[in-house]
Amino acid sequence: MSQTATDQPLLRIRGLTKNFGTVDVLKGIDLDIRSGEVVSIIGSSGSGKTTLLRCVNLLEEFQGGEIVLDGESIGYASRNGSRRRLGDRDLSRQRSMTGMVFQSFNLFPHLSAIGNVMLGLLKVRKLPRDQARQIAQSWLDRVGLGGRLDHYPSQLSGGQQQRVAIARALAMDPKLLLLDEVTSALDPELVGEVLNTVKSIAQDGTTLLIVTHEMRFARDVSDRIVFMERGLVAEDGPPSLIFDGRRSQRLNDFLGTARA
Ligand SMILES: Nc1ncnc2c1ncn2[C@@H]1O[C@H](COP(=O)(O)OP(=O)(O)OP(=O)(O)O)[C@@H](O)[C@H]1O
Ligand SMILES: [Mg+2]
Repeated sequence: MSQTATDQPLLRIRGLTKNFGTVDVLKGIDLDIRSGEVVSIIGSSGSGKTTLLRCVNLLEEFQGGEIVLDGESIGYASRNGSRRRLGDRDLSRQRSMTGMVFQSFNLFPHLSAIGNVMLGLLKVRKLPRDQARQIAQSWLDRVGLGGRLDHYPSQLSGGQQQRVAIARALAMDPKLLLLDEVTSALDPELVGEVLNTVKSIAQDGTTLLIVTHEMRFARDVSDRIVFMERGLVAEDGPPSLIFDGRRSQRLNDFLGTARA
């Protein structure tokens, strides 16, 4: 849980709309996240959770509304009432303000654990090799993999691979870390180690936006829970309110079918 939350939102989303052709997927999302806050998004399959994260990470274009990250409107420039997608250079600069970890770890199979974490530091941050190695090593230590720096993904368990992916994202020093169902592809016995890693980085004050189906974890780790339904934020509040308070029939139904 955060120690450093301030009143100024780090992420401010207003009226975000997104469609894929004729399908409206996000229908006007409003969401604020303060620095140091841990926010979990829950909701049924297809409610738009991944799409929302991908819009924030600028992996998807969006048609309406605004995403402001650390005071900067991201993805688009508006001039004289017209709006255009920013160029690749601006998009990659803005994209580097957020880190994202996916369900499938997406590690490079031909690179060792430390090689995977160093890559962005070398290619994007353009750090000298020694410095990149030092930063990568300390993040791998941080996620409990200091003894496996030279292991290749195929020599690591799914939980270890996912922890490398988390270290790789954090090594780039993002303002906001987006986690999309980072335990969904894991065997049940490996889920706990990854959730514990996420809990521990949350305690460091990392700002986290987490999509998860792990309800107990969401309740334990989050400052706020956001319940998404059909492209809208249906509920947004502290875990106690979401899980214990008076709640809508739909949230009730969802929690009834979700894993406790
Ligand atoms: N690239 C795409 N092209 C067309 N439709 C898409 C695309 N990506 C997502 N969708 C649609 O958008 C809707 C929301 O999908 P999204 O993946 O954001 O849901 P989700 O809440 O993350 O679901 P899940 O819990 O299953 O991961 C779904 O109806 C999905 O079919
Ligand atoms: Mg999803």
